[in-house]
Amino acid sequence: MAREIDALHYSVILVTLAGAALVALSAAYFIVKYRSSRASAPEGADGERARATRSIPFRYELLALGLLFALFVGFWVVGFRQFVRLQVPPSDSLVIYVTAKQWMWTFVYPNGAASNGVLYVPMNRPVKLVMSSRDVIHSFFVPAFRAKKDVIPGQVTTVWFDARMVGEYPVFCAEYCGDGHSTMRAEVSVLSPSDYARALEQLPALRLSGPEYAEPALGTEAPRETTSLARVGERVAVMRGCMRCHTADGAPHIGPTWAGLFGSVVPLEGGGSVVVDEAYITESMMDPEVKLRAGFPPLMPAYQGLLGAAETGALIEYIRALRSAPTATRTSPLARKTNAALSLPSVSERALEAQSGGEQR
Ligand code: CUA
Repeated sequence: MAREIDALHYSVILVTLAGAALVALSAAYFIVKYRSSRASAPEGADGERARATRSIPFRYELLALGLLFALFVGFWVVGFRQFVRLQVPPSDSLVIYVTAKQWMWTFVYPNGAASNGVLYVPMNRPVKLVMSSRDVIHSFFVPAFRAKKDVIPGQVTTVWFDARMVGEYPVFCAEYCGDGHSTMRAEVSVLSPSDYARALEQLPALRLSGPEYAEPALGTEAPRETTSLARVGERVAVMRGCMRCHTADGAPHIGPTWAGLFGSVVPLEGGGSVVVDEAYITESMMDPEVKLRAGFPPLMPAYQGLLGAAETGALIEYIRALRSAPTATRTSPLARKTNAALSLPSVSERALEAQSGGEQR
């Protein structure tokens, strides 16, 4: 999109430059032509000016205004179409999760691999970045792609691009975020599809923080089985207790099922509806009662500060993977096991706990 953005940018600059030059030249012409001179008859010059003003018909003024307005609308239409294109990633985009923190960038890929400081992407493939911050507001900026978006803690923002040339492109943080702001850099490494696949193979798998996640299967040294970020998310869901209330197979439970949830439109308590996307899922994890799904009690605890950005990304990827899960026919073995192991008292305990927390608030 860089070419189109540049084309609009420079055409706006050139048109305004031409307009300014026209005004300046006319001004210079009138200054010379109607200059006040004691040698020539002053009243005569005044009379001439008065005649000149009167002789411009009103329709020409209308025409000039109309042309200027058309120019404005033209710029707006071109700019708005580009804006929409920038905002809406193609549905077949490769999704990569970006975590910003003071002062580094971490990237998590669909296969569960992670990298720091270098974002590997395949050439000629739309890439959608789903971004969140662990601490303060940062901004992800790749000047060469004209791609820039704020990265906000507790929220998800997205930006997308389609890199056309193999190479390395610098990434900057474009929002002042503390002492190390100017050193908060990274690099987009655009690779051919085969090089991209190779690069991902060599990357270490995502390491989740906390002792409970230190499993050898995810370690750097152990050969990675066919893992994926969705699988990591499945484990996060189990370990964080999500499956006490949610199901992955469409079975009704305390909270909404995750089967077929992603991308659907759900009604909200108090009217309205919302599309279940990365942003809504993240918001619902961090502050569940902001947009409560209709028909479900406000029992879910807020996970703000409890879930890392990488875990959040993994959970989103898991819920996304369940988007086409036929409700109540396909079952996730892990989720099924958890639900089976779940004894009813612990559910109600949990619910009561959350409820009392909610009432206190
Ligand atoms: Cu991060 Cu500036």
